[in-house]
Amino acid sequence: MRPRTALARSLIEARARTDTLFGLVKPDAFYERPVPERHRIIFYLGHLDAFDWNQIGQWALGLKSFHASFDQLFAFGIDPPVGREPDDKPSDWPTLDEVRRYNQQVRQTLDDALDRAPEQSLHVAVEHRLMHAETFAYILHRAAPDRKLALHTRLLLAGPVPDHAMIEIPEGPVTLGRPRHDGFGWDNEFDAHAFTAPAFAIGKYKVTNGEYLEFVRAGAEPSPFWTRRGDQWYWHAMAGTIPLPLDWPVYVTYEQALAYAQWMGKTLPTEAQFHRAAYGTPTGEERLYPWGNEQPDERRGNFDFRHWDPIPVTATPLGDSAFGVSQLVGNGWEWTTTPFRPFPGFQPFPFYPGYSAPFFDGDHFVLKGASPRTAARLLRRSFRNWFRPNYPYIYAGFRCVEN
Ligand code: AVJ
Ligand code: FE
Repeated sequence: MRPRTALARSLIEARARTDTLFGLVKPDAFYERPVPERHRIIFYLGHLDAFDWNQIGQWALGLKSFHASFDQLFAFGIDPPVGREPDDKPSDWPTLDEVRRYNQQVRQTLDDALDRAPEQSLHVAVEHRLMHAETFAYILHRAAPDRKLALHTRLLLAGPVPDHAMIEIPEGPVTLGRPRHDGFGWDNEFDAHAFTAPAFAIGKYKVTNGEYLEFVRAGAEPSPFWTRRGDQWYWHAMAGTIPLPLDWPVYVTYEQALAYAQWMGKTLPTEAQFHRAAYGTPTGEERLYPWGNEQPDERRGNFDFRHWDPIPVTATPLGDSAFGVSQLVGNGWEWTTTPFRPFPGFQPFPFYPGYSAPFFDGDHFVLKGASPRTAARLLRRSFRNWFRPNYPYIYAGFRCVEN
């Protein structure tokens, strides 16, 4: 049955998005593990529908399970420290056919009931699936080019050379988090709390491959997305290897980002400073997006699945913030120095206690903004992303700050 509400239809659309992604995987690659610290691809194929079933079918609607062992097997992913890899074998997992049949039955059963599902469970299912559309792209990125079908890199090379301009942000108000009962947010986005941020200066542009290359020439580790042949550097794009685009944002770990900033005599922004630069204004209002209150569209930044890879840091001036800072949302998440911790008033969702709380361990840092593979509905101001400081697989860069 075709669901009637717009929110239920978003779930159907999100399925098309993730189905397309899994359609790019060659059948014999489903049992590979392109990111050693994450599950094999087959897990993600089952995870998305098992999660929807557990959240909407079982928790919200109380429907009776038809495959309890798969509901469990595919319930949750893993996040071991870098280097501590799982030791399961391909033969530990069910066949592609079994997983596909399970997925189909989940969808048939759920779709007859979607119009009865509470809005919060639908938001959880839609956003969970869209987050995996991004994290699965990181995984697919690491698969060898011959393991994926028909992908190409759209090159948007050679923007104007960015200057190293630092923009002065005067002292002003910052509101982190979101008020309760005013639209969906994940548990870690509550409660809203306001304070005053002291003045600081922040880079107008994200740090580029070209800038980071000078650091590498001085002896630093290269970006995990780079490779070297002879004395030439290349970038591992989603579809293959290309000469290093010097005007794209560099994607690095938190540790590498911080090392570069310190080498420059600077540091990285806190979560609050990112907010102030992105959403603040000289007159002290706070806006929904860097460019104002209008909904996201492709002229404002590189997000919502339009590209597989970055674009030049100067390519989207229409997305600039009120202070003239470019690309705060899109073209790569930005590392902050803020450890991922609960906001005052935090309460885990009773139906998903493990979403945020296990990661309040001091070994995950907040990232803000968005990447080329972040869905438009995740671009809200209060959304927080988090990863370990040495996790090298994500589409994340940084900009420098002076205090
Ligand atoms: C919010 C992207 C850090 O992938 O670990 C997906 C999202 N949580 N399934 C992650 C998530 C459970 C989460 N991040
Ligand atoms: Fe998940």
